[in-house]
Amino acid sequence: MRGRVAVTDDVQVEHASNDRADKSVYILDKWYVAARLNEVSKHAEKAFKICGRDLILTRETRDQCTARDAATNKPVPCEISEDLIWTFIASDESRHADPGPVPGFGGPKGKVRFMEKVIIPAHQDDAVYGLLDPAHTPFVHRSPLWRGNGILKEKRKSFEPSQFGFTMMPHAPVNSDIYHLIGGAISVRIAFRLPGLRAEYIQNSKHCVLGLTALTPIDETRTVLRQIFYWDTPILGAIRPFATLFARPFLNQDVNIMALRQKNLGYRGKGMLVGDSDKQFLWYLSLKKAWNASGRCRKSFQNPLSPATLRWKT
Ligand SMILES: [Fe+2]
Repeated sequence: MRGRVAVTDDVQVEHASNDRADKSVYILDKWYVAARLNEVSKHAEKAFKICGRDLILTRETRDQCTARDAATNKPVPCEISEDLIWTFIASDESRHADPGPVPGFGGPKGKVRFMEKVIIPAHQDDAVYGLLDPAHTPFVHRSPLWRGNGILKEKRKSFEPSQFGFTMMPHAPVNSDIYHLIGGAISVRIAFRLPGLRAEYIQNSKHCVLGLTALTPIDETRTVLRQIFYWDTPILGAIRPFATLFARPFLNQDVNIMALRQKNLGYRGKGMLVGDSDKQFLWYLSLKKAWNASGRCRKSFQNPLSPATLRWKT
């Protein structure tokens, strides 16, 4: 949908091709969301494929889980955090000794209130593109809920580097009426981090809603997208029964756009990454490169990004 972004003046095409030489590479030595806790029954086993590996998850108790590699039967680091089961996907078994902390998002009340998942028919990089393209939500998920009118407005957003990613600094939402469901003066902050985690915090002085999008590759051509919500406001509890009605078509739009994108790649279509509107995706590619260059080591990794302000019209 990039062709529909109206970019501002001084546009530069920074990257002439969307073909990625390292497309087969997963982002290793990172924690991935394997499941929401209630996707695995207590005292039961469930098989998952993550980054091309077959894993067996066993939920021992309410808050204890184990994971093992189905091929080797060896244990894989596994933790429960914020109502999610995380597994560490290592480049080498020696990395299991020190996987580092599971990413923490401070989800209100630490309990998942709503989750939908879908399998995106694409490599993780393409799925990340969907998360970071500013035109994605307004155009792929075109809905009166997101856009009160059809007028393009200029957006100007400030970003700062974070430990393994970057953060769109708090701002007031411009043309998305749905944000006002929680009332009061709303501010929105969006934090992206490797390997493919996007946390959108919607806050007023009393309440917070966290929308966490977690991408977990199954293999090189399929990626699970989980849209997970945490909140502490009763109004959203009241509309939860209807949320699935909205969430399913919403996620199917993601599947459809990715299927079209793959079809385009089949025609050897060359993508263009253009100016400020595609800068966040270029940052993702830089972060991924820097993570690999550091030997995928938390201590030697240096975030290559600098603070920046980006402009686009959507
Ligand atoms: Fe989407």
